[in-house]
Amino acid sequence: MIKHFINLNDLSNYDLTQIIKQAIKLKEQYKSGKINKALENKTLAMIFDKSSTRTRVSFEAGMTQLGGRALFLSDKDIQLGRGEPIIDSAIVISSMVDAIMIRVSSHEDIQTFSEHSSVPIINALSDESHPCQLLADMMTYQEYNGSIANKTVAWIGDGNNMCHTYIQAAKSFNFKLNIAAPKNYQPNQSFIEKYANHIHLFTDIKTACKEVDLIVTDVWASMGQETEQIKREIAFKDFQVDTVLMSKAKPTAVFMHCLPAHRGKEVSANVIDSNQSLVWSEAENRLHVQKALLLYLLN
Ligand code: CP
Ligand code: NVA
Repeated sequence: MIKHFINLNDLSNYDLTQIIKQAIKLKEQYKSGKINKALENKTLAMIFDKSSTRTRVSFEAGMTQLGGRALFLSDKDIQLGRGEPIIDSAIVISSMVDAIMIRVSSHEDIQTFSEHSSVPIINALSDESHPCQLLADMMTYQEYNGSIANKTVAWIGDGNNMCHTYIQAAKSFNFKLNIAAPKNYQPNQSFIEKYANHIHLFTDIKTACKEVDLIVTDVWASMGQETEQIKREIAFKDFQVDTVLMSKAKPTAVFMHCLPAHRGKEVSANVIDSNQSLVWSEAENRLHVQKALLLYLLN
């Protein structure tokens, strides 16, 4: 049975926790200069039809650090981008590499790819979810504040791919999730229904952030929604995470954002650049947690 990582809850709560534990160990190992060649002679194919800084650099550097190799395959360069069927691409690419990381718009395409792949598939962001980022966020919270179990998290802004993955994480990591999104930008109804026991929907952002342990937000217009930028700026104008909002949370509360961020839009500069902000660790931890994920999927 091939293990894939397409949705956060493809893995059991136990396995997710073990991956994070392993990531913390790998980080210490890496920082102390220890060499780990556990993926020597292994190849990761990285298929991108959207831009990326963190995902690309972390997977590529991670494979190098573990003694393997990563192949960057932009849709502009491979036949997939010229219309070669997903199924044919999955059969061919998976016959030559050990794992495939894929960032394409359609979640369904990633699903189809995985059904025809002979090696593990990692979802590196789809229109529906971004599970790798949640691994890094959960690792980061644990490093700074200990277990997130029984804590309360507020999601402020778009009910997008990151929001959906926080909803799944609320179940997997056992925290409460308050969601405040503008009326027409709620998470998908299927997520709201399936995870109803783990989430609370709010209309007022201040109430959603009251006494919470973590406030998270994301861009107002995701990749592929560039033409909606202006419309979204109007719809989201009262959904900025600023110091007033942070002051509603617990004094120990922290701020997260998967990046890239827009200061003065979804977050004020004095929040993202404050001591309460964990955004740089979240980004750095993509490296360590994905190394742990690769070891889990490939061994
Ligand atoms: N957070 C994240 O996935 O960043 P990139 O789009 O730069 O990969
Ligand atoms: N919601 C954002 C996340 C980027 C990492 C997007 O899909 O563009």
